[in-house]
Amino acid sequence: MSDIFDFDVRKDQYAVMGNPISHSKSPYIHSLFAKQTSQRLEYTAIHVDLGGFAQAVGNFDAAGGKGLNITVPFKQEAWQLVTERSERAERAGAVNTIRFGKGQLYGDNTDGVGLVNDLRINHQIAIKAKRVLLMGAGGAARGVLAPLLAEQPLELVIANRTVDKAVELAMSFADMGNIKGMGYDGINDIQFDIVINATAASLQGQLPPLPDELLAENACCYDMMYGAEPTSFMQWASAHGAGRVLDGLGMLVEQAAESFYIWRGVRPDSIAVIETLRAETKS
Ligand code: ATR
Repeated sequence: MSDIFDFDVRKDQYAVMGNPISHSKSPYIHSLFAKQTSQRLEYTAIHVDLGGFAQAVGNFDAAGGKGLNITVPFKQEAWQLVTERSERAERAGAVNTIRFGKGQLYGDNTDGVGLVNDLRINHQIAIKAKRVLLMGAGGAARGVLAPLLAEQPLELVIANRTVDKAVELAMSFADMGNIKGMGYDGINDIQFDIVINATAASLQGQLPPLPDELLAENACCYDMMYGAEPTSFMQWASAHGAGRVLDGLGMLVEQAAESFYIWRGVRPDSIAVIETLRAETKS
């Protein structure tokens, strides 16, 4: 009887693995989701040493863990480690969500759908037929390309400081839509309806070199970063007449909501959680 009792009360185990990990909001977000949807689960943050990722995932699996989120710097390693990948993870070359089961490791990438859902559902901004600029050609940019292109923008331009990376990235997604890669000097005479910052520049309070005439009327500017204060790109956007200026808090919650759905088959109310986090960020 005690075994059955133990099994009944035991919470399903989830975690986020990364390095560093101490500032991750994922445990808090998933605890809010679990409470909201009355799901019995526990979600922790696990610091993993560089070189120790595969071992850490194996240990978590062996201990009966149900699922993982993966963050910097292990998303590419997770892509290699999993035994099965979703189409969007396959294209992203990175995995941020693992589901364990039947001896398999199913890998997905929810970053792109998180961004698209935040834009489309939370902010009512359509991507279809729009001119979209994505700044940056690193992992963050790669992770969102397939879901962005699936929305059928009129064109998607990737601009990057290292031009070759933008060109190569665009080429590898060319089968999915109208996509071009270039340097920042290439965007001098073009205007965009949606500009997304996927560079790490905001982290250092820096800004890619953007022309003053970049924004079309009522353009939306979106920084994948977020913080208590507007990022340097958000400040630039406000000063250059953007119609909407958004940070990445909604994307963070939406990618988590999609992971939660993959694991639990239940969609949490992400808007309520975004509002909670927003209020706490400001206080
Ligand atoms: P991530 O996984 O977060 O995308 P990354 O792979 O290191 O991290 O990529 C960082 C991106 O930010 C790159 O596109 C980088 O440009 P380069 O490819 O030329 O290095 C971009 N980036 C970082 N700092 C920048 C800055 N100050 N100005 C413009 N772009 C910057």
